[in-house]
Amino acid sequence: MTIGRSEELDEIFRPSSVAVVGASNKAGKVGTYLFRNILEAGFKGVVYPVNPSSKSVSGVRCYPSIEELPETPDLGVIIVPAPSVGDVIDQLGKAGSRGVVIITAGFRELNEAGAALEQDVVQRAAKYKMSIIGPNCFGVINTDPEVSLNSTFSANLPPRGNIAFVSQSGALCAGILAYGVTERIGFSRFVSVGNRAGIDENDLLYSLGRDEATKVILLYLESLVDGRKFLETAREVTEHKPVLVIKGGRTPAGERAAKSHTGSLAQSGRDQLYDALFNQAGVQRAETLGELFRIAKIFSSGLNLEGPRLMLLTNSGGPGIVAADAAVRNGLELPPLARAVHDDLVPRLPRSATVANPLDMTADAGADHYRDILQRLLAAPDMNGALVITTPTPTMTAESVARAILAAKATTTKPIAACIFGVNDLSREVALLEDNGVPTFTFPEEAAQGLGALAKYHAWWTRPKTEVRVFDVDRAAAQAVVDRARRDGTVILSDLAARGLLSAYGIRFPKGGVVHTLDQAVAAADQIGYPVVLKVVSPDLSHKTDVGGVALGIRDPASLRAAWAAMQQSLTAKAHDARIEGFEVETEIQEGKEVLVGVQRDPHFGPILAFGLGGIYVEVLRDVTFRLAPIRPLSALHMVQSVKAFPLLRGVRGEPPSDVEGLTEVIERVSQLAVEMPDVVELDINPLIVLPGHAGAIAADARIVLGPPSRSAPLASAAR
Ligand code: COA
Repeated sequence: MTIGRSEELDEIFRPSSVAVVGASNKAGKVGTYLFRNILEAGFKGVVYPVNPSSKSVSGVRCYPSIEELPETPDLGVIIVPAPSVGDVIDQLGKAGSRGVVIITAGFRELNEAGAALEQDVVQRAAKYKMSIIGPNCFGVINTDPEVSLNSTFSANLPPRGNIAFVSQSGALCAGILAYGVTERIGFSRFVSVGNRAGIDENDLLYSLGRDEATKVILLYLESLVDGRKFLETAREVTEHKPVLVIKGGRTPAGERAAKSHTGSLAQSGRDQLYDALFNQAGVQRAETLGELFRIAKIFSSGLNLEGPRLMLLTNSGGPGIVAADAAVRNGLELPPLARAVHDDLVPRLPRSATVANPLDMTADAGADHYRDILQRLLAAPDMNGALVITTPTPTMTAESVARAILAAKATTTKPIAACIFGVNDLSREVALLEDNGVPTFTFPEEAAQGLGALAKYHAWWTRPKTEVRVFDVDRAAAQAVVDRARRDGTVILSDLAARGLLSAYGIRFPKGGVVHTLDQAVAAADQIGYPVVLKVVSPDLSHKTDVGGVALGIRDPASLRAAWAAMQQSLTAKAHDARIEGFEVETEIQEGKEVLVGVQRDPHFGPILAFGLGGIYVEVLRDVTFRLAPIRPLSALHMVQSVKAFPLLRGVRGEPPSDVEGLTEVIERVSQLAVEMPDVVELDINPLIVLPGHAGAIAADARIVLGPPSRSAPLASAAR
């Protein structure tokens, strides 16, 4: 991030004068196109071409150098070869310019020499406290009529609107601008960030969040410069403005192959980490560019779907069914019609109509039916919005139905989306509807997806706000466990140490103890009471079950003796190299559901929490979800609810429900541990047994790995 940038980034978006260094008259050159674009967009400030080899560019007086300009340009747009960029920065800096957009490529993206060149450019700009966009970028657009700046070399300039687009890919920018023109997508601001040597997506997100002309922010990302900063910034912005993202590419897998469950799951599912991040930030993720812009369109219309209850009105069966499926897939509900509404509508509809939701008026319906029925449906208090699908028939034209929809719209504040089928040229009707606040879509599924996104966003910003809970834990005891391990040079904590550390954070374990002989085992079992579990204690065995190191369901001394003998035999055969430190005898927990709660410390995202169905099948089923620590109570609950196996916790076939509250508390406590104990790089509680009712959850096995000793402070506060 450039030191001198302003929060609004006015030096980039609202310059009163711009110097275009490398502006050209020659056909086919970037500098030629770009300079013309600035002129053609009608820039409201003053623009100066700078090029020693021309007297004028596109009829505008050209200056041989920055020094010779009659005034200090606020912004410099640089289109000269990479080795000259540093000198241009110096000249602009000395003159007092505050921002630069560097179009030039050939920096970090090319090779090491390019990276060094980029570093040099950044240092020079920092000296003058100048903001940098780029290098290797496509430019910047601000359509505010008071500015009208187009510093890109695009052949297309889409209309003014309220969508801001930020892209890590320049080529994508060119494509999107062309698409924007044909699809009538209006932009407020458009930014190609290039190599992000200065301003990055977090700076832009923050400034676009404050830009009044921007109603929805779209990001094309391949990576994040700072995942945690993104989380913080996006969380703030999404409180008042939707943010949509399309994430391309994947971060290369970590160099070290993690050995824990959580670690291997987090490594193989890096994309899921982005999902977690976007989820916690209230950012909606699109799968395709088409989807991104279709959803943007519905947000851009300013509509607000206050709940998931959608009415589907159509004059044909198939499209209604397709839309209904898509609506449900996108989190919407199609509630049945209230009795009174049903009875009111029946006499007003063609006799062939199916009066339900979807309501199929059949091909007998005319435009007046659309107006009358839609109006009545939306007047019903339990409907949040409507999707109108129509295939023009001999009884009506596309235009008459468009006008009918608008007449109904005039009677309600609830959102209506439309999908008109089977007409070749709909441009007039689409313009009529969209200019009057009814977004239209080519296919019913797209409309349902857009409405689903609206409902999701409404649920996000009206969600109950919860704060991270800070539990009263014994940090000194936890630190003592780590210090002891450090002194012993231990990286993987022993079972006992792991248990000690987790107990200090309030995680419960079954009653039991460590023994070294069979007689001690029998005595211990007598003391704690049968049934018991016998487990090997070894720093070398991360998956004890695989080597026969766990025996369950031991009901009496005889079966304990048998289990002991079998375990010794199995360990000799399968784990003869492993250091055996003893055997744990503990109470067997006989009821409850096995889940996994884990932590993986990621160099890029910081501590990540994992939750999923536990036990030995976790890596096969991969029914696991991630969140970044620290976690808020509501987020912990969503985490638990989001795994496919969640119904098992609610209880199936008459089983009692498990203590989900107790489980989420364990997740929150583990989150606090992850934040406060930076030495812990991997942690698995697997299985954590969630008991029924309000009995809480008990850790049956835990594994903790420490990272290299570090002085890194814990995250600022667990209570953020
Ligand atoms: N001050 C002012 N003008 C300068 C200059 C300086 N220090 N150094 C060079 N110029 C002028 C040149 O005289 C030339 O003028 P002309 O067109 O009238 O001859 C103009 O700037 C451009 O310089 P030139 O050497 O001809 O370079 P170019 O136009 O072939 O290439 C770039 C310049 C920036 C376009 C090229 O280096 C580049 O980076 N291309 C890739 C751009 C890209 O893809 N960006 C990412 C998009 S997503």
